[in-house]
Amino acid sequence: MPARHLELRHLVEHDCGSCHGMTLAGGLGPPLTPSALEGKPLEYIEAMILRGRPGSAMPAWDAMLSEDDARWIARYLKAGTRK
Ligand code: HEC
Repeated sequence: MPARHLELRHLVEHDCGSCHGMTLAGGLGPPLTPSALEGKPLEYIEAMILRGRPGSAMPAWDAMLSEDDARWIARYLKAGTRK
């Protein structure tokens, strides 16, 4: 796995996990498990990551993440390859 993907995986576990739950099963934010994201298009997930949702606790990550990063994370979440 390229170094950037290891960094992104770390970010998902720590930063995203702080709101979405350490196993991404939900917390302050909704679950980001494959079943929860089923039927939600990759484009929707990418846009949510990059722009956040104004008026909610979901922050925009476009200062830290590129479009490629967001696309990789969206695929990673949908694939659910994590433990
Ligand atoms: C400070 C808390 C917080 C952090 C950190 C956070 N989120 Fe969120 N996220 C939320 C909240 C709250 C919502 C629900 C927003 C709404 O719809 O009202 C949300 C919604 C989402 C959604 C839409 C889910 C759906 O079912 O529609 C996605 C995808 C998402 N977040 C991904 C991420 C990712 C990936 C990260 C890390 C890069 C992250 N979030 C970090 C709080 C957070």
